[in-house]
Amino acid sequence: MRVAVLNGVNLDVLDRRDPSLYGGFSLSELETRIYEWARDLGLSAQCRQTNSEGEFVNWCHDALDWAGGVIVNPGAWTHYSYAIRDALELFAVPLVEVHLSNIDEREEWRRRSVISELATKRIVGKGPEGYREALEFLAKER
Ligand code: DQA
Repeated sequence: MRVAVLNGVNLDVLDRRDPSLYGGFSLSELETRIYEWARDLGLSAQCRQTNSEGEFVNWCHDALDWAGGVIVNPGAWTHYSYAIRDALELFAVPLVEVHLSNIDEREEWRRRSVISELATKRIVGKGPEGYREALEFLAKER
């Protein structure tokens, strides 16, 4: 099964962000782990990251044609982007919302996710392990 792993705004600079929230590792380290975990589970992951909301939406549209499962961490767009919400609503395959930090216990404005109601599963506050858990979930769903 092919899995689209879509990371959004500011996740390219993960290693420069607060390590107590985001772990201090780089996006490429995270993606390397995701590719290894996916391979071990017999999945084929395709990781993408962008700071452009339109590009994120276009990648969702592209993945509609091939993804059997989707893992999304839209970064701050999670909290307000109805454009990304509408794009994610198009998926008929399992969708896992992942956040490295525990957005449910941070600032008030981060506690709202406009995509949560679309998610088959939601994983927050588990750092990179959240992506592993998401892949394991999708592997079981297939
Ligand atoms: C995040 C949480 C968001 O609130 C934040 O804007 C991010 C990362 C996370 O993975 O914890 O950029 O999605």
